[in-house]
Amino acid sequence: MCGIIGYCGPKPAAPILVEGLKRLEYRGYDSAGICVGNERVLQLIKKKGKLQELRQAVPADMLGTYGIGHTRWATHGEVNDTNAHPHFDADGSIAIVHNGIIENYNALREKLEDEGFIFRSETDSEVIAFLLGTLYEGDLEQALKRTCRILKGTYGIVAMHKDEPGVLIGVRNGSPLVLGIGEHEMLLGSDVTAMLAHTKQVIYLEDGEVVRLTADSYRTTDLRDRDVDKKVDYITWELEEIEKDNHRYYMEKEIFEQPESILRAMQGRLDRDSATAHLGGLNMTNRELLEVERIKLVAAGTSYHAGMVATYLIESLARIPCSAELASELRYRNPIVERNSIYFAISQSGETADTLYAMRELQRKGARVLGICNVVGATIPRESDGGVYIHSGPEIAVASTKAFTSQLTALYLFALLIARMRDMSYEQGLVFIDALEAVPEQVRAILDRHAEVEALAKKYAHAEDFLFLGRGINYPVALEGALKLKEISYIHAEGYSAAEIKHGPIALINESTPSLVIIPDDGLREKVISNMKEIKARKGPVIALAVEGDRDVAAIADDVIYVPRAHEWVYPFLMMVPLQLFAYYCALELGRDVDQPRNLAKSVTVE
Ligand code: F6R
Repeated sequence: MCGIIGYCGPKPAAPILVEGLKRLEYRGYDSAGICVGNERVLQLIKKKGKLQELRQAVPADMLGTYGIGHTRWATHGEVNDTNAHPHFDADGSIAIVHNGIIENYNALREKLEDEGFIFRSETDSEVIAFLLGTLYEGDLEQALKRTCRILKGTYGIVAMHKDEPGVLIGVRNGSPLVLGIGEHEMLLGSDVTAMLAHTKQVIYLEDGEVVRLTADSYRTTDLRDRDVDKKVDYITWELEEIEKDNHRYYMEKEIFEQPESILRAMQGRLDRDSATAHLGGLNMTNRELLEVERIKLVAAGTSYHAGMVATYLIESLARIPCSAELASELRYRNPIVERNSIYFAISQSGETADTLYAMRELQRKGARVLGICNVVGATIPRESDGGVYIHSGPEIAVASTKAFTSQLTALYLFALLIARMRDMSYEQGLVFIDALEAVPEQVRAILDRHAEVEALAKKYAHAEDFLFLGRGINYPVALEGALKLKEISYIHAEGYSAAEIKHGPIALINESTPSLVIIPDDGLREKVISNMKEIKARKGPVIALAVEGDRDVAAIADDVIYVPRAHEWVYPFLMMVPLQLFAYYCALELGRDVDQPRNLAKSVTVE
């Protein structure tokens, strides 16, 4: 979604702003712009399309050492130069960038139009700039605070005024804003990747907080002008981690990082002596964990699929009722919070609005909500009652890959912990640990054979529809495989339980609709083979994902992708990786923009 960068310091601001926007590209955007202040003049450049357009439009000698920049992901108004940010107030004295949605913008706009103001764009954000202009009495910070009392909705805003050189004011309500503290320079960004090249010291603003910054100072207050003391955090990510290295796309890099990222998620958390896991961040005593009678996993998209996998595992191993629910649905159905239940909000970014709002609603009802997140210091981990960081390192590609397998790892660790407190024996615990510890090398073996998946992708990429089928714990993997393919290749794909096809989807099967069928060596193998035969009987092409040496499957399927033999619980990891590769190579074959697929955003901070 939209990205924000602001800079105040001794250096020319324009290249720093454009570079910051480059780092934010991964969030998804359709236009970009910057505004730089110099000698009481604000210079504004905005361009529809990729950042390259903006870069070309910025003069090499653009002067000014403070400014703001924005990548826009359209919500109100079409994609064009005018609707791009920054936006000026009526007379061009103030410029703002805004992330979020202003819910009462229509009423505010009509009122301002009645007063004679003429808007240039169709955006809700321009209303903020105009309002700010009408409330300005010589102090931008105070004017912004007055403006915020009128606005309804979500926002992260950064504003600058031509008569207050070297000053930026930021405010947050529902859209993330981070202050970066450098050497005689300050930055503001919608996430830390925008400022990592300049500083690792950051302050995360909370809702209702305002920051006034100059090159050498910052002051944080609330909307009623009271000082707020803030803790300085340290970013643990390295700049190299957000580079592409020698990979064509971030998605490729992130798929191939999985042996290491899965290992990182489990490192230091497995205890062989006690055959259990240690997850100190849960902030729960053993007694509290023992009292848990129900577990609910709340998330969106890929994270939801990780949660679904965990429901099979937790119910089987710990014998505790466990269910997964889409955050966007849960929030609006007045959920019942039962005694002795715990919730997990699963989110790579830790900023997804649907998940965050569902979490807050659950907490209002008295629920204990734990977070499973990747981005340290993001809103969900900050507001949750405890949780687990998955430590996958930055995930830049819009399509989530390594975060999924690391989320699984964290959930598997939790399953082990809670199962060992119930029926799981010491010996069973050790078997589980062995199975989990083998996963990174098994994933590496699958990645080593990526060329086989690439060849299959080339063969099938021109099909118009795909089915992804799996059963049991691998059913959510089929859903995730279909999601991966559709989001980056734009091929229509549906994930189903292999058992369900006879209840409807089998009508879609014909010679040109391939099915990817997940057939691990588990208790459902025979049944999935029967489902595969039903497809073959209707001349549907089948690409099977099967265990090395499974001749029965090879005899029926048109093509087979093999994974190493493993413990039946860990096949979701092993089956997912070839499906990620398949989606990636199909998208390459079709010439898609793999890292920034159309219409999608990395961190979905609006509902
Ligand atoms: C798909 C994808 C999305 C996200 C979803 C939730 O590849 O990335 O479906 O999984 O938007 O995002 P997080 O995990 O950041 O809450």
